[in-house]
Amino acid sequence: MNWTVEPARRLIGEVVVPGDRSISHRTVLFASIADGESVVAGLADGQDVASSVAAMRALGAEVDHAGTDVRILGRGLDGLHEADRPIDCGNSGTTMRLLAGLLAGQDFSSTLTGDESLRRRPMRRVAEPLLAMGASIQTSRDGTAPLEISGGRRLRAITFRPEVASAQVKSCVLLAGLYADGPTTVAERAITRDHSERLLAAMGANISIEADGGGARVTIEPGRRLGVVGGRIPGDTSSAAYWLVGATLLEGSRLRLPGVGLNPTRAAIVDLMVDWGADIVVERVDDWCGEPVVELRICGVGTALSGGVIDADMVPGLIDELPLIAALGASTTDGVEIRGAAELRAKESDRIATTAAALRALGVDVDEYPDGLAVAGGQTLGGGTVDAAGDHRIGLAMAAVGLAARGPVTIENAETMAVSYPGFATALESVVER
Ligand code: S3P
Repeated sequence: MNWTVEPARRLIGEVVVPGDRSISHRTVLFASIADGESVVAGLADGQDVASSVAAMRALGAEVDHAGTDVRILGRGLDGLHEADRPIDCGNSGTTMRLLAGLLAGQDFSSTLTGDESLRRRPMRRVAEPLLAMGASIQTSRDGTAPLEISGGRRLRAITFRPEVASAQVKSCVLLAGLYADGPTTVAERAITRDHSERLLAAMGANISIEADGGGARVTIEPGRRLGVVGGRIPGDTSSAAYWLVGATLLEGSRLRLPGVGLNPTRAAIVDLMVDWGADIVVERVDDWCGEPVVELRICGVGTALSGGVIDADMVPGLIDELPLIAALGASTTDGVEIRGAAELRAKESDRIATTAAALRALGVDVDEYPDGLAVAGGQTLGGGTVDAAGDHRIGLAMAAVGLAARGPVTIENAETMAVSYPGFATALESVVER
């Protein structure tokens, strides 16, 4: 499917962004092993979270949906059952990696598979710590899915130092830790998003976090039953980011984003843009299961942002926003350079290559490095045709900057945007002035 974004004059009004994708996956998984019925509003409506819902149903949890309201009848830590076929995680790395940890300690066996993109992504990063815990888990020869997990293993507690900064890997090991024979620690060198820690703590797990240099040591004790969860899941910071960029680039815009989650491990995009000269007001309005919820108010400033360098230390906090930041770079004064971000090549697409290709298709000069990219400032985006390349974030990032392009931007394979933000085009029509 092709979708064309017409140049816009400004964005005026209010957008309610979908529920946070990372938090929604965790809510579905954790509530399925809780004791009792969780009733939650604002579940992310993208295909990714639907993969987690389908997986937990296949494993015996009762999950009922009415739009984004969801009721989950948890089966307790040991109440899931074997799925009657391989579990299809679709495009969702979060579903596959977190489930691997949850399933490693069950007394039944499971197979996890996914779409073509997910079956190319690295899974040794979860298989290795689970093997160290005594689990039985097999990847393909290339270290990819399908994952074959044999049940009935007693898991050993470990202290694990991940090589890659990954919240998915950390969460996988913490979930396995619920089934281990003692306290399991993940010592991460760089802080990654901590939604698992916050939600597990809110549900009554015995979990503690200690600062450790630039990273953190997260320890979970096994066995403590999880309680239910309720309320409204905060809006997705990464989905809000498209509006932050779109509205900022269009002078005269005035956009309100109510109910957005602004967990400190995700807030870097707002801090960065404000640092670079964006006019964004953040008002704390609420709290959900330890997650700060804010209203964001953006006034457009046009192409006045400075731009700057994103180095390796900043990468984990901005990981999902990097294609968007690179795209924004063309419209800054000094440009944007992103380094230490080789991890981008292991996402839904090789995001260094796909971001560079999409920007070039819009007439932007891009330098590509093994671990990042550089986009000089002061460039004008022309119109053109870009390929979303099977990656929701590429399509959405190009749509956001495309609003300020000189001509229409046509996004090929735009259906992939529904992985995280199915309502983006409709929301755009409700606020755009041309
Ligand atoms: C996610 C963590 C990040 C992020 C992904 C969602 C999560 O991946 O890129 O979109 O929900 O834990 P990594 O943890 O592998 O970097």
